[in-house]
Amino acid sequence: MLILALETSCDETAAAVVRDGTRVLSNVIASQYDLHAEYAGVVPEIASRAHVEAVLPTVREALAQAGIGLGMIDAVAVGNRPGLIGSLLVGVAAAKSLAWSLGKPLVGVDHVRAHLYSGMLTAPDNGDVRPTLPGHPGAGGGAFPALGLVVSGGHTAMYEVRSWTDITRLGATIDDAMGEAYDKVAAMMNLPHPGGPNVDRMARTQGADERAFDLPISRLSPTSLDFSFSGLKTSVLYAIRGVPERAGREKHDAAHAPTTPDQFPSLAASFQRAACAAVTLKLQRAVDQSRERGVTYRTLLTGGGVTANSRLRTDLAAFAQKNALSLRLPALAYCMDNAAMIGGLAEHLLRAGQTSTWDLQAVPTTA
Ligand code: KG4
Ligand code: ZN
Repeated sequence: MLILALETSCDETAAAVVRDGTRVLSNVIASQYDLHAEYAGVVPEIASRAHVEAVLPTVREALAQAGIGLGMIDAVAVGNRPGLIGSLLVGVAAAKSLAWSLGKPLVGVDHVRAHLYSGMLTAPDNGDVRPTLPGHPGAGGGAFPALGLVVSGGHTAMYEVRSWTDITRLGATIDDAMGEAYDKVAAMMNLPHPGGPNVDRMARTQGADERAFDLPISRLSPTSLDFSFSGLKTSVLYAIRGVPERAGREKHDAAHAPTTPDQFPSLAASFQRAACAAVTLKLQRAVDQSRERGVTYRTLLTGGGVTANSRLRTDLAAFAQKNALSLRLPALAYCMDNAAMIGGLAEHLLRAGQTSTWDLQAVPTTA
């Protein structure tokens, strides 16, 4: 099937054409980065207005790059949750209008679940078709049940994926998302937004020592499958500014002296080490707890902006190998928000008969 997919949940207007759930014929992303830069964060009202202007040109571009006309589309998919309500509404209204006027099915897709699917997509622009291995989750379910991890700027959660239409959340962050922690640590080091890639780069500076700073790895209660990144973030802040002894006064003894910028590469590396260790610790708990329930995961599905992180990619590969899991890491083009992942997951929803009605709502929360 040929699916036209739209994604407007936050500050990227995206459209893609995906064939048969894995083959990405086009993946167009109109970034609003410049519009929000001066506010150091996404301004919802500016985002929705920009989506209104960008959505149809983005769809046109996606069709042109795929070399197809609207009449060839079998269905229209849209990320209808979660996200900024004004932004979601633009994509949902556009998708409804397109699907209705073409007489084709409409498929509403949960954006966070679509991130889980992003490792199933073929790498862009090079005809690289991912082999349909026996046990490939897209090929009929042989690789389920799977453990899923989404780590992005807005979400950090683990899932049990029994099929593409049967997904249960196991745990989620109780405070900051992992990408949010990266972005805040970047700001503390005066690195420009979006900070995650810059912290990643700085941590790879020659001579950076990931053991220079002893930063906390969040565990929460012994059985918790939730995440927490705010303690780690605060520890980095204290490492940079010194530990406040009393309100308004800072302690500058040898143990707590503020960190000078020449130590930032080691601090960035130590932060990454702790943040990634917190993720693999919870993944391990999830695997161990599932075995106690008699469930053996076969695959590790991953997605979200932070899966572009070099350290996390290495750690996830090691984790998957240790636990005999087949790892689905997204190609770099599909880590960040995009519409291809929406179109890919929509294929499975459509095949399962899960199409949406014309009263499909934009919903700020995830399912
Ligand atoms: O998935 P995404 O585009 O948006 C959300 O759904 O939130 O993720 C964006 C997040 C940002 O916080 C960004 O800093 C982070 O992903 N990110 C990274 C890297 N590349 C993007 N974090 C760490 N290392 C990276 N290489
Ligand atoms: Zn996202």
